[in-house]
Amino acid sequence: MPIIWDPNRRLINIETKTSTYQMKIDEYNNLIHTHYGGKIGDSDMSSEIVYLDRGFSGNPYEAGKKDRTYSLDYLPQEYSCFGTGDFRITGLHVKEANGSKVCSLHYKNHYVCKGLYSIKGLPRIHGNADDDNYETLFVEMTDEVSGLDVTLIYSVIYDLDIIGRSARLRNNGNELLTIEKAASMNLDIPYGNWQWIRYIGRHAMERNIVRSDIYHGVQSVGSVRGTSSHHYQPFSIICKKETNETAGECYGFSFVYSGEHITEIEKDQTGSTRVILGIHPDNFCWRLEQEAELELPQVLLSYSNEGFGKLSRNNHRCINRNIVRGKRSKERRPVLINNWEATYFDFTGEKLIEIAKLAHEMGIELFVMDDGWFGNRNDDNCGLGDWTANEEKLGCSLKELGKKINDIGMEFGIWVEPEMVSENSELYENHPDWVVKTPGRNPNLARNQLVIDFANPEVCDYIIKSLSDILSNAPISYVKWDMNRSICDKHGNSLDADRQGEFSHRYVLGLYRVLETLTTNFEDVLFEGCSGGGGRYDAGMMYYTPQIWLSDNTDPINRLSIQYGSGFGYPVSTMGSHVSASPNHQTGRQTPLNTRTTVAMAGSFGYELDITKLSMEEKQQIKKDIYTFKEYYELIQKGDYYRLSSLEDKCTAWAMVNNDKSEALISVVYHDVEANQLPTHISVPGLDNNIEYNIIYIDHEEIPVHRLSGMALLNGGLSILPSNIEYDSYMIHLVKR
Ligand code: DGJ
Repeated sequence: MPIIWDPNRRLINIETKTSTYQMKIDEYNNLIHTHYGGKIGDSDMSSEIVYLDRGFSGNPYEAGKKDRTYSLDYLPQEYSCFGTGDFRITGLHVKEANGSKVCSLHYKNHYVCKGLYSIKGLPRIHGNADDDNYETLFVEMTDEVSGLDVTLIYSVIYDLDIIGRSARLRNNGNELLTIEKAASMNLDIPYGNWQWIRYIGRHAMERNIVRSDIYHGVQSVGSVRGTSSHHYQPFSIICKKETNETAGECYGFSFVYSGEHITEIEKDQTGSTRVILGIHPDNFCWRLEQEAELELPQVLLSYSNEGFGKLSRNNHRCINRNIVRGKRSKERRPVLINNWEATYFDFTGEKLIEIAKLAHEMGIELFVMDDGWFGNRNDDNCGLGDWTANEEKLGCSLKELGKKINDIGMEFGIWVEPEMVSENSELYENHPDWVVKTPGRNPNLARNQLVIDFANPEVCDYIIKSLSDILSNAPISYVKWDMNRSICDKHGNSLDADRQGEFSHRYVLGLYRVLETLTTNFEDVLFEGCSGGGGRYDAGMMYYTPQIWLSDNTDPINRLSIQYGSGFGYPVSTMGSHVSASPNHQTGRQTPLNTRTTVAMAGSFGYELDITKLSMEEKQQIKKDIYTFKEYYELIQKGDYYRLSSLEDKCTAWAMVNNDKSEALISVVYHDVEANQLPTHISVPGLDNNIEYNIIYIDHEEIPVHRLSGMALLNGGLSILPSNIEYDSYMIHLVKR
């Protein structure tokens, strides 16, 4: 059993395959965090807390009279509260009706349940309740004065070293409580010097890695944009200076939430490191009436003492097995073609059919009609909200177009952006009050569009109805759900003045309700998330949309770093990735077709270019590539992912290894060419030491097949042939002989 209670020492141990998480209820009923890391057997790590009388670190009243060394100002805690002597960053800020802002939680009770905890209205890890691998710990805490009860929840996935942390707040007092900040997780690491890896970016350049020391003071990243954002990821890692791909300690923090978030880190006066992750407090203020409850979103906490590679693979497995849901996510995802970079808004039904026919001949399985098919939307200044097909442009109804695509032999999919409205639209004319804007002020425009208020249940019902009508009346088996701006001017018309601080979180809850309803009612439809590419690429969205358009940047060389950064927290199956035209539309860079293909194949694979303009050789090559992709699909989408290079190397290389290690696929992309080239030499981990592998360069029959053992590939390494073609790439199949 993963969760062990020792009543004598009042210790709770959460055991995963290679980690122990330990907390202790001390003599003052405070819940002290004593260990998270490698295994510790049955030791009580509270013995290693050094109690000292530190100046200006006060003592809780009941302790202070007899023990001046006991202070919440430095003790490692499970969940920190503001105002009662812990002067670090704290997770919970509560205001009582009398204006008091202090809170002090004490242990009341705990219990353990089989299975994983289901959070009402929010995404979370799921798994079969009878599976012994899964167990959940509930620790009930209370603030006796205000009557606030907080249940700390720890859902354990034993085999993946993952703990899903969340919390539930309940007002059991006699008066209103206002929650001003409520983190989902607090982790105190009492000792050691640590580094922080976070992912920063911007539109079309998402998830660049920044790694630096955690210094004394407070550091944070977050988003107040209404979405998780292109700019800062709700996934980050804490590690030792020496931690690398294959060795060293690291902790992963992945927020299963798609709205505003903050990760805060403080190294305090004693050198201890506190990490807090939760909903960003800037736009958050929740009225918790008597007997009301507030469920907080989940954080996936993971631990590895074998470097980032293992941490990533455990997170990948967790997302593929315990986050992503739905029939379509388990089936082989179709190879798709999207018309956005082929035509933008400038298309007719005839042009789409021409592309679809050719795509089908090449082996592409799904045709996706992107933006511009509805209302009067012929550019990005109008039409959003009017989800009726522009029959004049399409030359037929949506249903007929879908049928024509089906008759060609392909599935049919559409793009929608349901959270938005253009002023120049019928929806806006009929419901100007549904727009997110502050009374008396003009709202910000972005891409000339406005946000509609998903915090309003009436709006959500309307969206469910209008999308259900579309999906029921045309043969649509794929939906790309886009969201193309940040949200500001936050104010919800359906909320009272004293509930406006709930707007941002209620918006996300509304979005999740809409997605839950649609994905449940239309289980044959594959949903792909998008927010101008990767503006809402997070584990929360993955619960509803098993793949997400990773970035509006389709340049394969830029994509290498975007995919590399994204891969630390998320599996390739979630990364929408397409082969586009050369020169690339975002960067102007020219790259060979094989490299665009190699890069796009490390994701949910598709095409996004006008294939009717390609040469005969290119068309033939694509046909061959799609055949190759289908052949290696299981390996690419379900294999274990190994990074074989770092961003500083002259090439980017990665491998996918199958379950029984009988096969692997190595991809290598050169960033540059130089004269008198040297080969690249890489060590290949993850294989079976005792297996002999045939090493086959795919699509390079001229390169002779040779053979090495798993042990030799790991310890001796593989030399990758140099190339004198700029941005060239190779895919290399290793197969047990
Ligand atoms: C942004 C998306 O990321 C693109 O792929 C495309 O769908 C456009 N929106 C359409 O407006």
